[in-house]
Amino acid sequence: MNHPICGDDAPSPTFPVARPRRLRYNPLVRELVRETHLSPRDLILPLFVRPGTGVRQEIGSMPGNYQLSTDTLVDEVGAARDLGITAFILFGIPEYKDATGSSALKDEGIVQKALRALRKAHGSDVLLMTDECFCEYTDHGHCGVLCDRGGVLDVDNDATLPLLADQCVSHARAGADVIAPSGMMDGMVRAIRAGLDGAGYTDVPILSYAAKYASGFYGPFRDAAESPPQFGDRNTYQMDPANGDEAIKEVAIDLAEGADMIMVKPALSYLDIIRRVKEKFRVPVAAYNVSGEFAMVKAAAAKGWIDERRVTLEILTSIRRAGADMVLTYHARDVAKWLK
Ligand code: PBG
Repeated sequence: MNHPICGDDAPSPTFPVARPRRLRYNPLVRELVRETHLSPRDLILPLFVRPGTGVRQEIGSMPGNYQLSTDTLVDEVGAARDLGITAFILFGIPEYKDATGSSALKDEGIVQKALRALRKAHGSDVLLMTDECFCEYTDHGHCGVLCDRGGVLDVDNDATLPLLADQCVSHARAGADVIAPSGMMDGMVRAIRAGLDGAGYTDVPILSYAAKYASGFYGPFRDAAESPPQFGDRNTYQMDPANGDEAIKEVAIDLAEGADMIMVKPALSYLDIIRRVKEKFRVPVAAYNVSGEFAMVKAAAAKGWIDERRVTLEILTSIRRAGADMVLTYHARDVAKWLK
């Protein structure tokens, strides 16, 4: 079939008054008017560290992500750094678990060791963040110590706070650059800020997981970190996915308590929350593109049902467009390679 030459046909009687397509014909113009950009510098790569040497155990539900020992972690971070990724967040799988998560507080704990090894190998070339929580360290898998609430065990908010502060101070002592508490305890930012300041770490910023939802999207992570709750759920501390105003309240509280940056988690089903938080508070906002969001893309791509690269870049761009300044994502390495 013969097509007419574009633009040669006479203007139609219902002539468009506006032609937004004018800015879409030329790829260079499209680039010029692009509102949102994605760079490896916006991404934070989560990493899982466990005891041992030479460990590199792929996480089944998170292809391309591994449980690593400190030595292989040093290599992994070096390789990511070569791709242009500069920020990392560490999760620890400890040697032992108990009721209070005591292995989280040890200066010889797994994350503390990893911090020292990474700092020694990579100096100030890398930004090291630490996730501050107890679910990986407690034998019951909840995010703090327990108490009896009318016959049902629940996390004891106030008894958890001093332990959380101790964990953070220990991580700061081992070299953490940014402290990121994720346990959704009331008063956690204030307790941690006081702990850090009291130990002389007045300049270590806090990135608070302020609006963290009780989400089904954390499934693969709990395999990776070996941290699923052994009974019950996290509904008494993490937020109800149905709530938006409550996220604003949580963020306001954390900022008042001294949070320097705040996080919304998960990201993809909570783009409205990212946007509301950014517009209201105008502070640095992080969004966590969580394990389940990652796994869905990987699984569909493996089946040939979606174009992994295209979908991943679209998702991360949408999270940035919603208002996130930085994105925690297991796709960070893939993205850095694609953008090269
Ligand atoms: C808690 C924590 C969790 C995640 C990050 N920090 C799990 C949870 O709250 O159950 C999930 C991250 C992900 O799914 O990628 N330490």
